[in-house]
Amino acid sequence: MKERKEKLYIFDTTLRDGEQTPGVNLTPEEKLVIAKQLEKLGVDIIEAGFAISSPADFKAISQIAKEIEKCEVCSLARAKEEDIKAAWEALKEAKKPRIHTFIATSDIHLKYKLKISREEALKRAVWAVKFAKEISQGKAKVEFSAEDASRSEVNYLLDVFEAVVEAGADVINVPDTVGYALPDEFYELIKKIKERIKDKAIISVHCHNDLGLAVANSLMAIKAGARQVECTINGIGERAGNAALEEIVMAIFVRKDKFPVYTDIDTTQIYRTSKLVSRLSGIMVSKTKPIVGDNAFAHESGIHQHGVLSNPLTYEIMKPETVGRKESQIVLGKHSGRHAFEKKLKELGFNLNKEEFEKAFIKFKELASNKKEIYDADIETLIENLFGSEHKPKYELISHQVISGGTTIPTATIKIKENGTEKLGLAIGNGPVDATYNAIKKALNLENVKLVDFKIRALTAGTDAQAEVYVTLEKDGIKVASRGQDPDIVKASALAFLNALNRLERKKTYEKSYPECQGI
Ligand code: KIV
Ligand code: ZN
Repeated sequence: MKERKEKLYIFDTTLRDGEQTPGVNLTPEEKLVIAKQLEKLGVDIIEAGFAISSPADFKAISQIAKEIEKCEVCSLARAKEEDIKAAWEALKEAKKPRIHTFIATSDIHLKYKLKISREEALKRAVWAVKFAKEISQGKAKVEFSAEDASRSEVNYLLDVFEAVVEAGADVINVPDTVGYALPDEFYELIKKIKERIKDKAIISVHCHNDLGLAVANSLMAIKAGARQVECTINGIGERAGNAALEEIVMAIFVRKDKFPVYTDIDTTQIYRTSKLVSRLSGIMVSKTKPIVGDNAFAHESGIHQHGVLSNPLTYEIMKPETVGRKESQIVLGKHSGRHAFEKKLKELGFNLNKEEFEKAFIKFKELASNKKEIYDADIETLIENLFGSEHKPKYELISHQVISGGTTIPTATIKIKENGTEKLGLAIGNGPVDATYNAIKKALNLENVKLVDFKIRALTAGTDAQAEVYVTLEKDGIKVASRGQDPDIVKASALAFLNALNRLERKKTYEKSYPECQGI
């Protein structure tokens, strides 16, 4: 007899734990764009942020709560009255709200971080779950997480879970907060929890990747009875990140024979979601990253190429189309008209109004006069550059010029608007990009801004491709990552630098207005 499969709930925490990746600082508008794509992808729960942690997070959660129709929208909250109140305030207009409250249960966290006893932590956990139900008048689903569960004393952990379920928790989450667990022991832990809790609540897991085991641990947990996994797009998150959504979903899809569950993820949306998150977070995806890396479906060796041409199954365990990867096609050129452009926009999922369309069309014609072949990625970049963020940035690039090559000393001139005022910088450097960065620093009188990371790559094929530059900057202990795109690599580098400066400004503004939110 065929086994009946159970639903596995996909809880996406890209916008909360993923945003805790060092250097990532998404605006509420960017979070909303990602949330809408997550809804298209078919995740069940979107953890949109940590309402009390900053006004920006609060705003992002409320906007996402208002606009998302199908998914549950969730906010994190410590087991504290002010956190749970803030979470509910941000979520109250959601069609399906969820409050996610947590407290640590391991002795090391209780002793050194919270400085409370096991009994006190249990009491607070039960109180938090009851309070979350009460304040939302039963409208919100309540999830409870035992932070550092995998390093907690197991009988105590079971008691805590039993008590919160008794208090009304709908979901109990088992985080491997520091990525310490091994797959076989995590399986045993989930099995014990399932034996104690039975079907009184959904068991969830939340695995970090410090030992590279987050996905393996999540999969073993599913085998032991977990029916919710918490994960992020591209596996972004604190330190080595969280379990990658695309890897868990595709493991279950490809190895259906081994799992008693199904997901409602539309796998064809995976690649697009990965690209969007990478672009907006400024965190580049490694070429060899499973499912979404550039090389995940590339075949280099002659033997492999021959095999794949005869039958793709020789070296491919899934089709690139299944995860939404198509050969990047040449789509448009300088002769393409309005109709073709409009059709392409629709195909890529952009719905622009008349005014936005006209703006985009002018930009498209400008790009087409510089670039022979326009790829899907070029168009996505163009639209995102035009409408990606509602923020008026502090710094805007007006023009730049570089002299370099042969025996000339690389020299850059740059004109930038700083809060509407034009600033001019002139500098030399080791190469054209170095000269440009020195010119920016001169123009803006920047001190103590450190370039921590710089990466460049071509977005599409051909020497006229769009260049994508990723930079990470550090100032006063704050790190931010950002990117810039343009067919001209020096301009892309300048845009990346200015975008990162704009992010630094936004981060500083929020932190100055709400100092009490720091260090949560
Ligand atoms: O890693 C962790 O323990 C968390 C919890 C707040 C769920 O992110
Ligand atoms: Zn986490």
